[in-house]
Amino acid sequence: MSETIRQLISEEDVDKKIREIGEQISRDYEGRQVHLICVLKGGVFFTCELAKRINVPVSLDFMSVSSYGDDTSSSGVVRIVKDLDESIEGKDVLIVEDIIDSGRTLSYLIEVLKQRNPNSLRLCTLLDKPERRVKDVNVDYVCFNIPDEFVVGYGLDYAQKYRNLPYIGVVEL
Ligand code: HPA
Ligand code: MG
Repeated sequence: MSETIRQLISEEDVDKKIREIGEQISRDYEGRQVHLICVLKGGVFFTCELAKRINVPVSLDFMSVSSYGDDTSSSGVVRIVKDLDESIEGKDVLIVEDIIDSGRTLSYLIEVLKQRNPNSLRLCTLLDKPERRVKDVNVDYVCFNIPDEFVVGYGLDYAQKYRNLPYIGVVEL
């Protein structure tokens, strides 16, 4: 069976919002270097676009995690599939996510990173589904709050497809 994609947020609106968030981050980190941690794979498109809109020095690292069981039923304990290449000790770290859903995996990831003694640790997400939250996470930068619908594009996939869409769409089966 094939699915159709209904546009939820246009490419133009996504680009405009990323510029705004990039400007806000640039102001907040003025005089410092920001170390972006891209959470693979979904965060990769957003991380690249965001990094281009930040005008303080940026460094980048990548991490890939998977939860034991699915995100809705798991304890949120994560397995680090790919760890960071560099130490984050003393750095001003900004985690970059594609979407925040239950918050389980992410709150665990935050605890893991805090133990590595960054100077600061903040969180930025392209999308947030606040209705889905079961674990409190403090989100510092949100591009869009969205309803509880399954979305794709801008890094987000449905069975590994549609990550490359330049807009955010809802999957209709
Ligand atoms: N789309 C893709 N991946 C996801 C979603 C979604 O809506 N929610 C959590 N992971
Ligand atoms: Mg993700």
